[in-house]
Amino acid sequence: MPEFSNAKSLLSGCVRCQQFAYLHDLYCLMWLVRLSNHTLLVSQLRKYCLIQQGRVFNLDILSILISNSLLKSTKMELAKRLHSLKSNVFADMDAAKAIAVSSGKELIDLSLGSSDLPTESHIIEAIKLSLDDPHTHGYLLFRGTENFRVAAANWYETKFGVKIDPHTEVLPLIGSQEGTAHLPLAVLNPGDFALLLDPGYPSHAGGVYLASGQIYPMSITEKNGFLPVFNDIPGDVLTQSKLMVLSYPHNPTSAIAPLSFFQEAVAFCQQHNIILVHDFPYVDLVFHDQENSKHKSIVPSILQADPEKTVSIEFFTLSKSYNMGGFRIGYAIGNAELIQALRKVKAMVDFNQYLGILNGAIAALTGPQEGVKKAVNIFRQRRNTFINALNKIGWEVPTPQATMYIWAKLPPQWRNNSIKFCTELVKTTGVAASPGVGFGKSGEGYVRFALVQEPEILEVAVTRIAQFLISSK
Ligand SMILES: Cc1ncc(COP(=O)(O)O)c(C=O)c1O
Repeated sequence: MPEFSNAKSLLSGCVRCQQFAYLHDLYCLMWLVRLSNHTLLVSQLRKYCLIQQGRVFNLDILSILISNSLLKSTKMELAKRLHSLKSNVFADMDAAKAIAVSSGKELIDLSLGSSDLPTESHIIEAIKLSLDDPHTHGYLLFRGTENFRVAAANWYETKFGVKIDPHTEVLPLIGSQEGTAHLPLAVLNPGDFALLLDPGYPSHAGGVYLASGQIYPMSITEKNGFLPVFNDIPGDVLTQSKLMVLSYPHNPTSAIAPLSFFQEAVAFCQQHNIILVHDFPYVDLVFHDQENSKHKSIVPSILQADPEKTVSIEFFTLSKSYNMGGFRIGYAIGNAELIQALRKVKAMVDFNQYLGILNGAIAALTGPQEGVKKAVNIFRQRRNTFINALNKIGWEVPTPQATMYIWAKLPPQWRNNSIKFCTELVKTTGVAASPGVGFGKSGEGYVRFALVQEPEILEVAVTRIAQFLISSK
């Protein structure tokens, strides 16, 4: 029996085998292929055998199949770190949604936190103007982002009263997710621990895994207002920890954190030499009159607790405040050394966002803010409608003070299986929500509804949920 050491010699062997014309010869061929360990090719040939069972097969088709398979199966070994990247909640729900749609259900999708509201026209106009300007068409180096950095620094100072240097303390991002996922590459060595909220936003964990770090999940529960208890972190984990990631108003629980909690977090990180990240996408989605309480928002910035920026970096996005999720634009503000380190990583990965989109973002940050207020009012109304409707069907849920999410404790019969609740719900009613466990182990027993539909549709969703709960008792 010949040995095939590589794909090329295997292919020529296969071509020689064309003289075999019957099924048992194909099995011989499979045997030869198996010797060279091309598992993908073996499985494709096996499928082919099944299709051709008992019949003379077409050698031309077979040789095309073999060469295609060989191309795909050439000794491809992907990085081990990919094994840690579990499919996230959004991907998990996709299959169940597809089944619901294919069985004729009308989908009400409350599973994704992607705003359905349009971007304000003055922002779109700024982007349109840029499109016609050839100066915006080339690569954008850091210098070219200055106007955006200044706009972001001014926006921040007006809102939170902390002085920001736009040259050293601001970095444009291709969305906040991109920044929080890349930062671990700049600050973690393989094996270092990152302290993450559980439940929490999936890409925070993804970034740590990409940097070959380890995760210590800081379990957050209703009992503690969904805030972590720092003293619960074991000493041996603490000594290996380099990074802590917080994010309030919190996705998925909608919890908010007071300034005193951030002060405690800053002191803790300073004491243990830990870098403190605050992911802050819901800075504006707050259902509370912030107008009268300048710099005293119920959702403080981490830099108010660390105005010298000793350990902290904060991530912002225009996805939520300005309904610009599809444009992929955000920024980091904070400790200059951390900004510089993240910039170093990004310099190897991207050339910044398109200048036209930065111009749109400048228009958003410096222009009229009525659109932000309008969006807040819309989400407040949706929140009230949804909570009232849930209460009416006997599902008591606390009223969140921020974000676009309702974090609801599941009825007892579903409390151990939020994935089953969500997949059954969407398959039988067409209402899609996100299973709590998809955001981390401590999210089990909950479901997250994103308020990304009009109030009338939210009411229809709750009616369907009620029918589902009755039928599943
Ligand atoms: C906590 C958190 N971080 C980041 C993001 C993504 O933000 P961006 O669109 O800026 O990447 C989201 C979106 O839902 C989020 O909830």
